[in-house]
Amino acid sequence: MSITPVPRVAVIVVAAGSGTRLGAAVPKAFVGIDEHTMLRHALARVFAAPAAQVVVVAPAGREGDALTEAIAAAGDRRDLVSVATGGATRQASVAAGLEALWGDVEIVLVHDAARALAPPALFERVIAAIETGSAGAIPVLPVIDTIKRVENERIVAAVDRSELSAAQTPQGFRRGILDAAYRTATQEHTDDAALVAAAGHSVAVVEGDPLAFKITTPADLERARPLVARHPLGRSDARLENSPPPPRVGIGTDVHGFGGEGALWLAGLEWPGEQVLSGHSDGDAVAHAIVDALLSAAGLGDIGTHFGTDHPEYAGAHAGVFLSRTVALLGEAGYRVGNVAVQVQANRPRFAARRVEAEAVLSAALDGAPVSVSATTTDGLGFPGRGEGVAAFAMALVVPA
Ligand code: CTP
Ligand code: MG
Repeated sequence: MSITPVPRVAVIVVAAGSGTRLGAAVPKAFVGIDEHTMLRHALARVFAAPAAQVVVVAPAGREGDALTEAIAAAGDRRDLVSVATGGATRQASVAAGLEALWGDVEIVLVHDAARALAPPALFERVIAAIETGSAGAIPVLPVIDTIKRVENERIVAAVDRSELSAAQTPQGFRRGILDAAYRTATQEHTDDAALVAAAGHSVAVVEGDPLAFKITTPADLERARPLVARHPLGRSDARLENSPPPPRVGIGTDVHGFGGEGALWLAGLEWPGEQVLSGHSDGDAVAHAIVDALLSAAGLGDIGTHFGTDHPEYAGAHAGVFLSRTVALLGEAGYRVGNVAVQVQANRPRFAARRVEAEAVLSAALDGAPVSVSATTTDGLGFPGRGEGVAAFAMALVVPA
């Protein structure tokens, strides 16, 4: 695989809203249109457009899920993906995305995840307008309805609709202009074009696309559903079912100290009569190192991203729960486990008699992928040598599913 050159264009996909008007049980960007979420559809189209740095701005606590969706959509462009944490308003979320831009980026497009069907050609039109000299450019559509100005439930004026346009996203700007406009903004604006215009710049328009409508209400979602089926991406750039990513290796380590009551769980096995390891879950350093190695290999962050202490359902959970959830996360990102090797450093327990058993249990939890377990003492040195705890080191290979 070749290294992707650093692009001059970035797309900030704002997906941090709660979706009050849609009223779903999850934040709007994570609501499914078909079997894929709004965010996944939006990103599939972003990745089918010319190569750009892609910053997904996610609701706080949903960064891991956003990263999983982005990597699934990115295919071989995964190096271009990062996730930022959104703010209380759309403007604050865009500002968080701007913080994550690489130094070489010259053109920034800001796009609503809620405009999940905005086609790749729309991104190209906006970029082209800026490349030919505009400070900013946004897609617009003519207003179709006759428009009235209403006050106190009475029409006070007719508005000439030929003067009006409906604004969409992606909205593109020269990076320096957008950065400066955000630094100096003193009030909330409803879109980025308004904020940039308030800073004194003129913003051009390009032809919008009806498919770039914003999914706001349940009726909008119903409208989107058949459209997704009728407007799939072309196969050549269909990053919903993306081109296979290359195999990747990852590394993970974990340490737990002895302490507490109950039974020792290590490498997915219960060890009667052995000292217990302490930890938020069962303290199984071997399983946790494997989870970190697998997530690292898939570029999905680490164990804290997906299984942090803010997930009470994992308190006291055993290896199988962590490992099978990790296999599922990998699957969503287009990977399965190739193989795993893990080494334990500890005086006790002694693995020799149960190595095969441990390998079988861990392998079963990883959908049958081979797992090798090895163990060593440390010649009395360090914390494992002093018998204070256990260290585990894992490497994993993941391959396209
Ligand atoms: N957005 C964001 N951060 C916020 C608010 C909105 O990133 N604090 C994003 C949304 O995720 C969406 C886009 O801005 O992709 C347009 O916002 P909107 O359609 O209003 O979405 P919500 O704010 O989530 O919906 P609602 O206003 O109904 O709550
Ligand atoms: Mg909103």
